[in-house]
Amino acid sequence: MTKVLLTGASGFMGQYVLRALLENNIEVIAPVRDAASMRSIYRQPEVTFLEGQFYSDALLEQYRQHQPEMIIHLAAIRGDGNGSWKKYLEVNVNGTERLVRYALENRLKKFLYCSTVGIYGTVPSRIPADPYTSAEADGYYHQSKLLAEKIILNHLRGHVPLAIFRPTISYGFGDDGFLVKMISMVRKRVFPLMSSQVLIHLLDVNSFGELMVLAVRKKLDDYHIVNVADKNPVQLSQLVDVIHSHFFEKPYPRYMRTPQFFHRFSEWATQVLKMRGAHISVKLISHDWYYDTSNLENIFELPQHNTFDVVQYYLKHSFPRNGEQ
Ligand SMILES: NC(=O)c1ccc[n+]([C@@H]2O[C@H](COP(=O)([O-])OP(=O)(O)OC[C@H]3O[C@@H](n4cnc5c(N)ncnc54)[C@H](OP(=O)(O)O)[C@@H]3O)[C@@H](O)[C@H]2O)c1
Repeated sequence: MTKVLLTGASGFMGQYVLRALLENNIEVIAPVRDAASMRSIYRQPEVTFLEGQFYSDALLEQYRQHQPEMIIHLAAIRGDGNGSWKKYLEVNVNGTERLVRYALENRLKKFLYCSTVGIYGTVPSRIPADPYTSAEADGYYHQSKLLAEKIILNHLRGHVPLAIFRPTISYGFGDDGFLVKMISMVRKRVFPLMSSQVLIHLLDVNSFGELMVLAVRKKLDDYHIVNVADKNPVQLSQLVDVIHSHFFEKPYPRYMRTPQFFHRFSEWATQVLKMRGAHISVKLISHDWYYDTSNLENIFELPQHNTFDVVQYYLKHSFPRNGEQ
């Protein structure tokens, strides 16, 4: 049985990865900061939860005893505004470096790192962004993920086969991010939809679990960098219509479609006022962001999902309409 060290198993994406690994008879060693709550959910003998910070001396020592064959590294402070640069550096960069050294010293078979498309910037300067598009990481979170990527490539290339996965914004059950906020605003009819078309590219989180199973099984040579997203980008206006129709059986009202200059002004104002969270949100709903995911198919043969199909399923089961279960 393959034995994998999985960091971040308690997180949103981590739990999908954990379930996918266990369903595929892959043994998991999972460092988490609250082992008791994870043990109460996952009782399978194939998973061992170790308690502590994933890069602490105590846990690195325990990894040596458990002897995982490879690492899937997901743990990170995610998103901006979750601490000082020092904290991002400690967890996302230096924590990753400690795992990298562990992988080198213990001659692991593989290192699989979960980065983010945010290393191209909140919205990439070249569309579709491919793994060779220049990195323009903005903000602590994206910058720390980019630094971690560089450490992994510098230290492991030529020594430990590796893959750097760059997922886009994910959605699925248990999520409280972009799509959930959008659904809430569309439902209240306060979502400022730009009148001109915007293409966005999301990721069904289930796909990421499926991908990690394929990556564990795949024989990797040297290194790969892979954008991870659904099959195709979608028109934001179509997505908003799908959400609105779910609740009200008609498309989003025309009067809620705002002209481009309103969005550009908001983008400028939020930047001048240093309102980073709001600035990111405005950018995400008024610029195209989509990615070249050909490596997913070419290297890992992952069957990608159709965003509209998954979102409709998700709406039906997470946001039942009045009278529906
Ligand atoms: N969600 C997305 O849309 C998305 C998109 C692109 C990339 N990613 C990447 O995917 C990975 C997983 O993301 P996620 O959405 O699952 O994140 P999440 O729900 O915030 O989970 C983060 C995980 O990191 C661990 N962690 C360790 N030290 C931490 C610290 N000091 N502060 C906060 N968390 C800490 C947490 O585990 P413990 O608390 O048990 O230690 C937790 O399991 C991350 O590397 C992220 O950059 C996510």
